[in-house]
Amino acid sequence: MSVTREQVINALRQVNDPELNRSLVDLGMVKDVEIAGPNVRVTIALTMAGCPLKEKIKEDVKKAVSTIPGVQEVSVVLTTMTSAERARLFGQEPSEMEGMKGVKNVIAVASGKGGVGKSTVSVNLAAALAKRGYKVGILDADMHGPDIPIMLGIKERPLGSRGMLFPLEKYGIKMMSTGTLAGEGTPIVWRGPLVNKAIKEFLGHVAWGELDYLIVDLPPGTGDAPLTVATTIPIKGVIIVTTPQKVALSDVRRSVGLFLKNQIPILGIVENMSYLKVPGREEVMDIFGSGGGEKMARAFKLPLLAKIPIEPEIRLGGDEGRPVALEESEASSPFFELADRVVKLVEKNRKGREA
Ligand SMILES: Nc1ncnc2c1ncn2[C@@H]1O[C@H](COP(=O)(O)OP(=O)(O)OP(=O)(O)O)[C@@H](O)[C@H]1O
Ligand SMILES: [Mg+2]
Repeated sequence: MSVTREQVINALRQVNDPELNRSLVDLGMVKDVEIAGPNVRVTIALTMAGCPLKEKIKEDVKKAVSTIPGVQEVSVVLTTMTSAERARLFGQEPSEMEGMKGVKNVIAVASGKGGVGKSTVSVNLAAALAKRGYKVGILDADMHGPDIPIMLGIKERPLGSRGMLFPLEKYGIKMMSTGTLAGEGTPIVWRGPLVNKAIKEFLGHVAWGELDYLIVDLPPGTGDAPLTVATTIPIKGVIIVTTPQKVALSDVRRSVGLFLKNQIPILGIVENMSYLKVPGREEVMDIFGSGGGEKMARAFKLPLLAKIPIEPEIRLGGDEGRPVALEESEASSPFFELADRVVKLVEKNRKGREA
C-alpha cells in the first residue's frame, strides 16, 4: 500500500508550532508534500527567517510522518512565509524595517579582508559606547565567522515571537548574530538571491527597541555579502579597519570604493595592530613600518580614527568573552578615543544635514 498525501497531512495535524500552539496545517505552514514510493519530503514555511525553533519543528515533523506505515525516509525542507502569509496569520505584518525604528545611529565596521580585527574593534567600540552611557546594540552580520557571541561570552540562543526576534543582552549591550539564521552546525553558503532575501528579512525583524548606537560587524571583503547588509540597514557611517602593511592599502582602496559607489558615508579608518609596546620600555616597535595609517588616511581624504597597538589584553578579552573596553584602562584607551571620535563625527554630520 502506498503512502498518500492525506495520511501525511493527517500526521502533520498532530504537530504544533511550539510558540503558537496550533497545528502546522491550521497555521498554513505546510507548503508542499512530495511522495516518491516510501520516501516523503515535506516543505514547511516558518513564520520568520532564523526562527529559533526551526530544529524542533523539523524533528517533530520527521517523527510524526515516520509513524505512517510504509514510510521509510522523511526529509524536511524549511522555507519562510511571505509577508502576505504572515500578515494573514498575525493579522498584521511587521513592516520591513520594523525592528530598526527605535535605532538612532547605525555604525558599520568593515574591512577589505578578514583577520584584521574587525570583530575586535566592533565589540570594543560597542563596549566603550555603553560605558559612556549610550544605549548600545551589536549586530554580528559576518555569517562566515560569527564571532561576536564568543567575544561577549554569550551562549544562549535568542527567542522569537510573532515574526520578531529578540536580541540577547550582556554587559548592558544587546546582541544579535546572523549565526541564528544559519542554525548550529550548518555550513553557510553565503550566495544568491534567496540568501539576500533571508538576510534582509532577518535584519528588519530584530526587536532592538530604543538604541543610540547599533554597531554592525560586516562580513569582510568587497563582495555581495557586505554590500547586501550595508544597503539593507540605514547606515550613518562606516568604519574601515585595516592593518598597516603595504598590501592592506589595496584592500582599503577597494573597500572605500565599494561604499562610496553606493553612497554610504565613511567615517574614517582604524589602523589595528599598529605597533607593539615593549614592556618596560618607552619606545614602541613598528612591526609593519610606521605611518601607513596616516598615509592611507591622506590618500583617501578620510580621518584616521584610531591606531590600536598589538596588545595581549585585547586578545584575551576576546577569547574570554569580556571585552577590554568594558573598563577604561591603558589597554582599552584607543577604543575610548575611537568611541569619542565616532560620537563627535555622527553629531557633526547630523548638524551638517540639519543646516
Ligand atoms: N589589537 C590587537 N591586539 C591583540 N590581538 C588582536 C588585536 N586585534 C585583534 N586581535 C586578535 O586577532 C584575531 C583576529 O581578530 P578579529 O577576530 O577581531 O578579526 P576579524 O577581522 O573580525 O577576523 P575575521 O575576518 O576572521 O572575522 C583575534 O584572535 C583577536 O583577538
Ligand atoms: Mg570577525
